[in-house]
Amino acid sequence: MGIKGKSAIVTGGTKGIGRAIALRLAGDGGNVAVLGRDQEAATRTAAEVEKQGVKSLALKCDVTDYGQVKRVMSEVHQAWGSLDILINNAGMDRSQVFQQTDKELWDLLIDVNYKSFLNCCHVCIPYMIENKSGNIVNLGSDAGRVGNPGEVLYCGTKAAVMASGKALARELARYNIRVNSVAPGPVQTELWENLHPGEKGRKVTEAVTRAIPMHRIGTPEEVADVVAFFVSDDSRYLTGQVLSVDGGLTMIG
Ligand SMILES: NC(=O)c1ccc[n+]([C@@H]2O[C@H](COP(=O)([O-])OP(=O)(O)OC[C@H]3O[C@@H](n4cnc5c(N)ncnc54)[C@H](O)[C@@H]3O)[C@@H](O)[C@H]2O)c1
Repeated sequence: MGIKGKSAIVTGGTKGIGRAIALRLAGDGGNVAVLGRDQEAATRTAAEVEKQGVKSLALKCDVTDYGQVKRVMSEVHQAWGSLDILINNAGMDRSQVFQQTDKELWDLLIDVNYKSFLNCCHVCIPYMIENKSGNIVNLGSDAGRVGNPGEVLYCGTKAAVMASGKALARELARYNIRVNSVAPGPVQTELWENLHPGEKGRKVTEAVTRAIPMHRIGTPEEVADVVAFFVSDDSRYLTGQVLSVDGGLTMIG
């Protein structure tokens, strides 16, 4: 599975699934740049990454801001000489029936979940083309494949990421750049906890757990392992794919 010596960028790598991906890629020998809005949290994850004997950078970056993305990607390129792997992980969710949402929330979710993906791909791809090599993995979601009530915006943005990922895969295959997406089901992170708080949230989690054939919520590490597969040579003939990581919840594909 070796990605030894390759440079990887993980957006939103400070906690949850992003942190698990950063640590897993480090375990596989990659140098990992941890991007996050919170410098201290990014520095903490970067220190954990370095403990695995690879290089790391902790870079403050709000990925909704094109200028910030441009600056930090250039820093990574200057430091390590290439941008080999991009993991578009940063994301957020809010639960609200569509009629109660407002344009402010639409813009927020579109910016954080979709425009961040556009920003990062747009800045990173020229470096990869120059190198005639690259690997992009996006965090989609089962929600964007099946639709969840109360998540109209989230589902739309995640479907957009997965669909644009496929289109990019077609554009970029000629440059030896692969683009794939993972579509997690429920994963035990702050995102899930904030979406389903309190007693009502506990009941939702119980009901979802019953519906999952494997009868448990996923862990960040279980998603990270699939991301590691997509960036490895073991998946060298895969591009434009979306793989659900959900204990059998949706069985799409
Ligand atoms: N947890 C789940 O159940 C689940 C399911 C399907 C998909 N996902 C997706 O997986 C990804 C990671 O989610 P998680 O569960 O680890 O969530 P999390 O809330 O634990 O972590 C999200 C990360 O994204 C970062 N982030 C948010 N907005 C940002 C911005 N503008 N700039 C930079 N960083 C930003 C946060 O700071 C944090 O580090 C997200 O894209 C999410 O949509 C999660």
